[in-house]
This record gives sequence, structure tokens and C-alpha cells, in this order.
Amino acid sequence: MTHGDGRRALVTGGAGLIGSHIVDQLLREGWRVRILDNLEPQTHKHGKPAWVPSQAAWSEADIRDRAAVTAALQDIDVVFHQAAYGGYMPDISKYVAVNSFGTAQLLEIIRDDNLPIKKVVVASSQAVYSEGAAICPQHGQVAPPTRPLAQLQSGDWQVRCPTCGAVASPTATPEEMPIGGETVYAITKVDQERLALTWGRQTGIPTVALRYSCTYGPRQSIFNPYTGVIAIFSTRLLAGQPPVLYEDGEQTRDMCFVEDIARANLLVASTDALDGLPVNVGSGVATTIRTMAAMVAEALGIRIEPVAHGEFRPGEMRHLCSNTARIQAIGYQPQVDLLAGIERYLAWIRTQGDIRDYFAAAEAILRTKRIVQQVQSHG
Ligand SMILES: NC(=O)c1ccc[n+]([C@@H]2O[C@H](COP(=O)([O-])OP(=O)(O)OC[C@H]3O[C@@H](n4cnc5c(N)ncnc54)[C@H](O)[C@@H]3O)[C@@H](O)[C@H]2O)c1
Ligand SMILES: [Zn+2]
Repeated sequence: MTHGDGRRALVTGGAGLIGSHIVDQLLREGWRVRILDNLEPQTHKHGKPAWVPSQAAWSEADIRDRAAVTAALQDIDVVFHQAAYGGYMPDISKYVAVNSFGTAQLLEIIRDDNLPIKKVVVASSQAVYSEGAAICPQHGQVAPPTRPLAQLQSGDWQVRCPTCGAVASPTATPEEMPIGGETVYAITKVDQERLALTWGRQTGIPTVALRYSCTYGPRQSIFNPYTGVIAIFSTRLLAGQPPVLYEDGEQTRDMCFVEDIARANLLVASTDALDGLPVNVGSGVATTIRTMAAMVAEALGIRIEPVAHGEFRPGEMRHLCSNTARIQAIGYQPQVDLLAGIERYLAWIRTQGDIRDYFAAAEAILRTKRIVQQVQSHG
């Protein structure tokens, strides 16, 4: 007998990168699965992707559509809420409408209609941390605030101790760190997480918020120039263009292969050990953005060096690597390291036909909206 044992799941955003891998794993484990996804055009340029399995019930609808969400929630045991508007898009109100409002309404429907949902797992993000944890030589582990705009404009990328101002070095970030991201996306991920966990406490319905680190892998949109560093570097290089590094390229991220993120979802659905908590999910390994560019170029056999134009994105964290002790305690171990994961992504991308660079045009827009800014020279 399989673990799922006929349990019924709703995966919102189930056509996307993470959602579609959750769907596959659920089906493999014997769950009955329904997907609600509006096929956001930024992500799904050519409509419904071929990887959406026919064994899953399909509802093409917007998470903001109350009637559609109500219908999709009928006869469901566990909700894996992945649908969201992501990345560094210039919108403001759409993030709040899709991510904050969409989540609020989903929770409200479950409560008001007394639906017998047994668990809600909501996709949060490491973006909820304004900056990763750091070690000050004097004060030990500290929680640095977002670096001020004026500092970034002067080309100073360092993270400093909030107490003494000394340069602090990065360390793995535990869930207890203060949250409060300073991009529009991050603000709405904080909303989603807090709405869900607070609602869970008040209704008594077990709820978990998984704070994913940077996720990549097969099915990551090759059309969306606003999100996914591995996807963007890959499509740039395949189009003969150099990857663009923000800041100096020495900032670090925790890159996690999509199947590992999906498995964490099934794991927290199978135990009550982490109910009510925010939970980091990642690889626990910090990699610089410059190293990622080199790894992708090497794997592709393309000798194009990345470029750094002294640009930065206000509000972006310098370093973030997740401390994953909490989820490891229930048996989670990432299985695919970055090198193997990049190979898996590139093998998939080669099956996707013509690769174009959408980044150059997007970047021009981001500059005019001040989402990407330039160091100010003092001549
Ligand atoms: N990819 C990452 O690095 C990462 C990191 C942290 C958190 N997350 C979170 O994980 C979740 C899944 O992200 P992903 O990487 O799979 O992104 P994705 O864009 O590949 O998938 C999101 C899916 O949601 C759908 N969607 C978007 N807006 C919708 C709406 N209004 N109504 C219904 N469906 C809608 C899209 O069509 C898409 O299929 C999101 O909540 C995201 O914020 C992702
Ligand atoms: Zn200090």
C-alpha cells in the first residue's frame, strides 16, 4: 500500500515548477490530485504545459476567483498552496492581489464553508528574511537589516552588524530570525505565511509554511526573465549572451533542486511534527552567483564570461543560506547537489526547442522602474 492511500490533494499552481513536481510525487504515492492554475502567461507562454498529467483533475482558474477556488476545495484532504506571482516583476498591486488576497480568500472559504480540510501547506520563501543571519566578530550571531539604498548606491555591498557596524560574515539562517522582506514579492510572502499560520492556530487546522530557498530544475520557465537565476543564466548563454551579475557576483544563495523541495511538501503532509511552524527547506549549501554562472557555462561548454555593470536590486539580500535543522529532524535530506541539478536542468532545456533571451528586454524595463539600479559614480 502506498503512503497516499487515496488521500485527496489540491495543488494550486500545480502547472508550475514546484507544483508540478509535487503533483507527480503525490500521484506516484497514490494520492488523488486536483490542480488549480490559471496558466499565468509570463510563465506559460504556450499555454498548458505537456507535463500536466491527465490523471490529475484540472481546473484552469485564477486563485482570486472565489467560485472556482470554492469548487476546487470540495472533497480535499490536504491543500498544497503554490500559486503565486513571483520574482522581480515591476507590478505592485498584482502581487498583493494574487499572493496576499488570494491566500486570504482561500483560507476564508475553508473556514466559512466548514470544509473538512485536514492540512494546509503554504509555499513561503527565504525572501521573508530581509537579510541572512551573520556573525559579528564582537556580537556573535546577529540579524542584519536590509542594506540601505545609499550604501548600495555607493557600491558598498557589505553586510554590517546592527549593533557595532562591523562587517559581519554570513552564516546559516534559522527560522527564528526576524522576518520582514523589503521587496514587494517578499512582503506578500510574509503576508501569505502569517495569514496561513495565524489562521491555522485559530481554526485548529494544521498548517505549515515552507520557506523554500532558490529552487531550480526541469520545467522552470525559460520564458520568464524575472525569476530563476539558473534558468536566466542558461538561456542567456545559449543565446550567446553573457550572464549579468548584480553587485559583484560574490553574493551567495542556497540553491535547491525542485524534486527535493517537492519531497519536503509530501514529508510535512505525512507528519504532525511541524504543524503550526515556518520551516526552511533548502540545500544548506551557500554558492556565489559568480560560481553559478561558471558552473552553467562549464556544463554547457560555452566560454562566455559573466559581466557585472555595477548594478544592484534595492532590497535584495546579500547572503542567504538556510539552516535546515528543523526539517532534517523529520528525516529530510536533499538528494541532488548543484552540479547534478544543473545537468538535469540543461538536459531538459535541450528538449525545449528554440531558446531565446528574454532578459535583455526585461532588464531595460526594470531599470526604468528603479528595480535595477546603478552605482552612482563620484567622478
Ligand atoms: N522558485 C523559487 O525559487 C521559489 C522560492 C521560494 C518560494 N517559491 C514559491 O513557490 C511557489 C511556486 O513557485 P514556482 O517556482 O513553482 O513558480 P512557477 O511560476 O513555476 O509556478 C507558479 C504557478 O502558479 C500559477 N499561478 C500564478 N498566478 C496564479 C493565479 N493568479 N491563479 C492561479 N494560478 C496562478 C502559475 O501559472 C504557475 O503555474 C510560489 O508560491 C513561490 O512564491 C518559489
Ligand atoms: Zn557587532
